Parts: sequence; structure tokens; C-alpha cells
Amino acid sequence: MHYSKLKDFPQNFLWGASTSAYQVEGAIDEDGKSPSIIDMYEHPSDVADFSVASDHYHRYKEDIALFAEMGLKAYRFSIAWTRILPNGTGKVNEKGIEFYNNVIDECLKYNIEPVVTMYHFDLPYCLEEKGGWLNRDTIEAFVEYAKVLFIHYGSKVKYWLTINEQNTMILHPGAIGLPKVGKLPSKKDLYQQNHHMMLAQAKVMKLFHNMVPEGKIGPALNLTAMYPATCNPNDAIAAHNWEVLRCWNFVDVCAFGKYHPLAWSYLKDRNIAPEIQDGDFETLKGANPDFIAMNYYSTATIAASKGDASDVTARAGDQQIMLGEQGVYRPSENPYVEKTQYGWVVDPVGFRYTLRKVYERYQLPILITENGIGANDTLEPDGCIHDQYRIDFIQKHLHQMRLAITDGVKMLGYCPWLGYCPWAAIDVVSTHQGYKKRYGFIYVDRDEFDLKELKRYKKDSFYWYKQVIEENGKNI
Ligand code: BG6
Repeated sequence: MHYSKLKDFPQNFLWGASTSAYQVEGAIDEDGKSPSIIDMYEHPSDVADFSVASDHYHRYKEDIALFAEMGLKAYRFSIAWTRILPNGTGKVNEKGIEFYNNVIDECLKYNIEPVVTMYHFDLPYCLEEKGGWLNRDTIEAFVEYAKVLFIHYGSKVKYWLTINEQNTMILHPGAIGLPKVGKLPSKKDLYQQNHHMMLAQAKVMKLFHNMVPEGKIGPALNLTAMYPATCNPNDAIAAHNWEVLRCWNFVDVCAFGKYHPLAWSYLKDRNIAPEIQDGDFETLKGANPDFIAMNYYSTATIAASKGDASDVTARAGDQQIMLGEQGVYRPSENPYVEKTQYGWVVDPVGFRYTLRKVYERYQLPILITENGIGANDTLEPDGCIHDQYRIDFIQKHLHQMRLAITDGVKMLGYCPWLGYCPWAAIDVVSTHQGYKKRYGFIYVDRDEFDLKELKRYKKDSFYWYKQVIEENGKNI
């Protein structure tokens, strides 16, 4: 669709940026924090671990001052459950409460809206030892943790995200890290974990609406539209299969309180459907998210399954690199898109396409909680970082977002576009590819193993994004 005039980004649009606790904070055993699963996972030995990360735990004031200088209207960060309740449940760690109170107050001081993710891949390890998400008790543990957060921060934080990328944790568990024994759970167990997370999320949303009636809460999923590899109808069916299993099933359970019928048929047919207890569906129906948060990096291109083991590629998959599944779909190449140096498809138009689909399906406001490009940035001798590729990436995605806004995604008297929080506000440790894969607007001077002074430098994209925010995106 071509338009003679594009709609503007809404007033009060949350121009933000994101991080997560384990990737930015460091201080993994300070002030009473206990280990999380991500701290304990086996990671490749040739990349940085999370022990120091970007040292935000000690430098949050300096960092938030830089975010304010960049003009951010929102800062999306996650709270580490292991700082708040080191035993998973029970005794509250005052030092942990104080740390996030300080972070929130520092944001508010600069009129930056804090957007809090409650759970970003980092279950307390002590709960993992009791079965983790496979154990139904973890549902109540999450509710208890949520209650502590709402009591302490509910009056200051308006926007909340329950669980980050539940679909990545279930579909690509190896991309997050390998458990100590080196063995990933079976699919049956993963879908049981998924069911428990869904129940925990629904209970927490219900609790939130009672405790923080003025606030807004939503799930944060990694959403990716799928293209059929050709106009062969079988490719179209395969693309739909994987779009449903990878994306819509996760959002449907949260938004509609029920599994997507195609996903449910798949789970039943393969004997991997979760065990459902009486009352579970009533619980799921009670979630009522206020918005959908979405992490968008890439699209994927899908061909029909050949029905044999060759559907699954030998290369390593991750959040964005599709693996294939026998009898479901085969990954295919898209000749019309580029890739990042880490092999992730770059598809700004696919962003518009995905946004259209999300709005069409759920008719809820949308908050972009991640979008960005991982690259090996270079710190020049004069202290500059010329990351034009990041500017191009974000500029193109924002333009497509503006087109999607113009496409008429609109709700009566209510702005459906909450904001855009690209990944990442500042360099952080990549989930599985170390420190050299950088995403931030602010460069942190450290190497994979040499921590140097962790000094902060403003990248070219910092100045560019500042201007975009000042102009409320009018030149995008
Ligand atoms: C998202 C995660 O999947 O992608 C982030 O929510 C992650 O935690 C981001 O860092 C980029 O992925 P990666 O693997 O390049 O760090």
C-alpha cells in the first residue's frame, strides 16, 4: 500500500531502549543475590560470561544519565528475581529491593518511564533444583515474587512485562544456555513447562490488575512473520504451521486463554501436549493483557516438509535462525533480504508485515520491546564509534513502523502504539555470543575477557537516535 501522506508517530510515544538484568548488571553474587539458571548454564568458553557484564549494577547512575542525555522517554530493564527473593520464595532481600528502587527513581528523576520485565530467562537456580518450571509449585513462586514487585514498585512503574520470550525458552532452549548436565529437556517436558509459565503469567496479570489498577501489563514474545518459500500451496501451509507454533500459539494462550487449535492438534498428535488440571483454562482466561509487547529481529522463509530427517538442518539454530522440524517445516533462504554478520535476516518490511498480523489477530496496543542489530563495533582512536549500519537498521525499521501506523492500526480513542524500545540501550553481553556482538547506542569499552575500564562512549547511533526522539520521528 502506497500513501500520499504518512501518519505521524503519536504524541507521548515511548521512545525507549532495552536491556536485561543478567546481560547488563554483573555483580552476580553481590548484596545477597543468588545464582539464576542463566548464571549456572554452561556457556561457550570462548565468550564472556555474565559475572561483570556491563557493570550497570555499580554504574546505573552514569548510564541512566546518558540515557537521559540521549532523550529516552522509556527504559526497559528486567528485575532479577534472584536479587529480590534469593531463595526463590520467602525472605525478601532488602538490598535487592533498594537497588531497583534506586534504578526506578533515577529514571523518574529524568522523566524516563521505567518499563519493567519481571522475568528475562533467569529463574532462581534454587527453584530449578526443585524441578524449575516443570514443577507446578513454581507457578505460586512466580506469583509470590510478582506480589513483592507490585507492593514495592507498583506505585512508580506503570508498564510491566511478565515473561520475556517464552517462545524462545521453549523452542530454542539451547540458545539460552545448556543445563549443567548438558542435556536439554524433552519436548514433552518443555510444553509442560510452557503450560506452567502460561498459568503463572495469567495469575500474575490478574493479581496485577487488582493491585495496580492504573498500570498496564503484557507478555513479551519474540514475533516473526513467516514467508512461504514459493507459491506452492504446500509451502504456504508449512509457513503457517511454523508461524502458529512459533508465534501465535504463545500469544493466543495469553490473549484468548486457549491454545491455538492447530498447535493443540500438533501437541496431541505427537503426545507432547501438557497435562491440564481442573481449573487451568479458567485461570488462563483470566489473564487479560493490556497490550502485546513484541521483540522483532527477523522474518523467516519456510518450505514444505519432506517428512524425513532432512527437514532439520545441521547448522545451529537460535532465536532467529530456524532449524526445521520433521513433518512440520523446512527452513529456506530468502533471496530478497540481507543478513547481519551473525546470520540473522534483516527485513524491515517484514516488521510492518508482522505488526499488521499482530494487530489484526489481537487488537491490542503494541509495545516494541526489542529490535536491533548485533555487530562487532570498532572504537576508533578518537573515541568515536561509526555504527552507520545500526542507524540504517533502526531507521528502516522505524520507517516501516510508521507505514504500519499509517496502515490504520487504530483503536477508538486509544493509541495502540505504545512505543519502541530497541535492543539495546547500552552494550550488553549477548545471550550466547559474548561481548563482541554489540547492540547498544552506548559503547562499553571491554573485550571478551579483558575488562579494561568499562568506560562508556557514545556511538554515532546515540546522536542519531537523540535527534529522532527530539523530532518525534517526523523525518523517519
Ligand atoms: C532476544 C533476547 O532474544 O534477543 C535478548 O530477549 C537477546 O536477551 C537478544 O540478547 C539478542 O540476541 P543475542 O543472542 O544476539 O544476544
